[in-house]
Amino acid sequence: MQDTSFAIHPGNKSKIEGTTFRDIGDVTSFKQENNHFLFSCEYGRVTIVFYSNHVARVVMNHKQDPVVEGSFAVIQKQGIVNVEVVEDKEAIRLGTDALTVYIEKSPMRVSFLDTNGDLIIGEGQKGMGHSPSGEVICYKQAHPDEHYYGFGEKTGFLDKQGEKMTMWNTDVYAPHNPETDALYQSIPFFMTLRQGRAHGLFFDNTGKTQFTMRTEDGTFHFSGETGQMDYYILAGPTMKEVLNQYTTLTGTMPLPPKWALGYHQSRYSYETEAEVRELVGNFLNKEIPVDAIYLDIHYMDEYRVFTFDEDRFPNAKQLVADLKEQGIRIVPIVDPGVKEDPEYVTYQEGIGDDRFCKYLEGNVYYGDVWPGKSAFPDFTNEDVQTWWGDKHTFYSDLGIEGIWNDMNEPAVFNETKTMDTKVVHDNNGVPKTHRELHNIYGLKMGEATYEGMKNNLDGKRTFLLTRAGYAGVQRYASVWTGDNRSFWEHLQLAIPMCMNLGMSGVPFCGPDVGGFAHDSNGQLLARWTQFGTFTPYFRNHSAIGTQRQEPWSFGEDVEANVKKYIHLRYIWMPELYRLFKEASVTGIPVMRPLVLEYPEDKHTFNLSDQFMIGANVIVAPVTTPDTEQRLVYLPEGEWVNYWTDEKVSGGDHIIAKAPIDTLPLFIKVDTMIAQGSPKQSTLVQEDDYQLHAYFGVKKEASYTIYEDDGETFEYENNHAFEKYVQMSYDNGVLTVTAEDVNTSYTPGFDKVTLVAHGLSDVTEARVNGKHVQFQKNNMNNVVITISR
Ligand code: GLC
Repeated sequence: MQDTSFAIHPGNKSKIEGTTFRDIGDVTSFKQENNHFLFSCEYGRVTIVFYSNHVARVVMNHKQDPVVEGSFAVIQKQGIVNVEVVEDKEAIRLGTDALTVYIEKSPMRVSFLDTNGDLIIGEGQKGMGHSPSGEVICYKQAHPDEHYYGFGEKTGFLDKQGEKMTMWNTDVYAPHNPETDALYQSIPFFMTLRQGRAHGLFFDNTGKTQFTMRTEDGTFHFSGETGQMDYYILAGPTMKEVLNQYTTLTGTMPLPPKWALGYHQSRYSYETEAEVRELVGNFLNKEIPVDAIYLDIHYMDEYRVFTFDEDRFPNAKQLVADLKEQGIRIVPIVDPGVKEDPEYVTYQEGIGDDRFCKYLEGNVYYGDVWPGKSAFPDFTNEDVQTWWGDKHTFYSDLGIEGIWNDMNEPAVFNETKTMDTKVVHDNNGVPKTHRELHNIYGLKMGEATYEGMKNNLDGKRTFLLTRAGYAGVQRYASVWTGDNRSFWEHLQLAIPMCMNLGMSGVPFCGPDVGGFAHDSNGQLLARWTQFGTFTPYFRNHSAIGTQRQEPWSFGEDVEANVKKYIHLRYIWMPELYRLFKEASVTGIPVMRPLVLEYPEDKHTFNLSDQFMIGANVIVAPVTTPDTEQRLVYLPEGEWVNYWTDEKVSGGDHIIAKAPIDTLPLFIKVDTMIAQGSPKQSTLVQEDDYQLHAYFGVKKEASYTIYEDDGETFEYENNHAFEKYVQMSYDNGVLTVTAEDVNTSYTPGFDKVTLVAHGLSDVTEARVNGKHVQFQKNNMNNVVITISR
């Protein structure tokens, strides 16, 4: 009925917004117990806890004492934080070195101040409360000059000011457009930028939640249909610090295996072993790099997970082994639905050991998915997680190292698109309904899968791709943005969507390149591949029955174009890998909105059609057909066109030339980037490591090379190669300082080529004080080779 005008029937509105809000009322008592600050109010109880000097948590429960244990997202322990408590008649102040929580007593209003006593975020006429139907709500003051980033996977522009967003993991085959709200991921976190300063807000509630960032009345609010009002304020004060604080709370992405950063090819489905071998043959013959091939649902025996259809794939083990020798991994899809079939061992085990989601009455919940009637593992139970994880020996024994989790919202083919919300999850003996825990189903499946595979791989890194997730999903998986379509509009919407995923702690993300549903075309594939070259996750995937979209599907010109950019991905691999390493430590994403680097520049606040890689590279994809130039915003300073070495002044919009085989790319002056060379796959070690310095007015740039084995967890023991290189120019002399920082890993290259762009009159070059020879390349850049 939602597709007809019935959707706006006046009778559909069950209540008038705001009228049923019951304010928390006055504080009636306050006490401190260890590091918990406990407040009783007229209509609810509140606990405030500090995680660090910069992070405070507020939990309100209108029925009972707030529950502070049991978050699925937060892995940081409550810290030992020195909190000064000052109480007077009107208010209580809880102060750390960096953050003060200011609690007015009558009525209770909770505000947050910085060290200077300036307001970070406050409450006015309205604060926390609940509705008779049990919704929890919190109103906060909003300022007209605020910008909001994050919220996970959302359609629309970068800045979410003015948006109303729902968090409820949903399988949305169609449509994906600006008013499509809930998608596959729910990350109830965002940061506010106001006059160059930032703070974060994380609403840790796993049921259906809403954020209303329509701020005309000077407030925004967020609410949860079930559960507690449970939120964290992260004091920043920079955007990068907020991201760091958020990923300290919820975890950072582990460094993926290098092969996961290569080009991946998928299709729903490559249906037989012969088809996969032919596909691989094409990549090898055409010298188009590829690191992974995906097996969609057809590989299974009637869609039973942990099986192979032996007619279609007579020798899966041999296939995996042969491909691996060529540097190509097989990544099979694994959905949560287990086919109801008394002769199928996974189903038998699930029923026998009571591992499936059930109703309170004890009957198993069944839903229809690809295999037909299916049961769903209850991943909220640790034993079920271990069982599921261990079952992945089926894949790892075949030599498989990466898994693709799909349909894990969980998706069910029915009106509601998901599991009955009345199902009761065991939750390790603290039962909760599916209504309360819906949004963590994918996260917990991801955890089980990641941990299981990691266990099986004997010290090797595993790779997991997931469609659904919740805050913290980055600890286990990379995220693709679900069933988009081969529309130019979907190429456009993927840019802010991925930037905001990055701003939500998920650096490893990307859309289906070329578009999943609908028929792609040559131009679209070429432009989308250009964009995909610089998205952290780079996979071409398309749906059953659609136009094929492998790189060679649209004739020679498109093939050459696509190949050029897949090669470019491997050329940029050393730079991307270093940025992945950085993201795994700091939480700062690989793919960044310009506002993250230029938070004072108003042109960046809602810039949704271009992005940065790291702190110094601007990527401006072409996202409309028959377009050979586009407007690009370059912030203050000088920039260099990557393709032509031409210098361009920033602080303005420019028209960049973009013929069909050109992706506009700009490098900030006085910075460096690392480059490698095209490879058939990441199996081939880099032996041509280059550092390119782009000189501007400062005539000085530096870089720390980062390489490790790309496949084990030894990097966690600092087993890596790191070298600091500084280049500067003065009066005809190019001076290089190169210092070993860490040599415990030996990379595949034994020398590093240094390329100095933008210097015309070098007469002498010195490395670590010694005079060295230099050359000029065909672009008249100075080239020096130094030893590793
Ligand atoms: C879902 C996935 C898609 C996959 C298909 C078949 O639609 O989002 O990527 O190809 O299911 O498994």
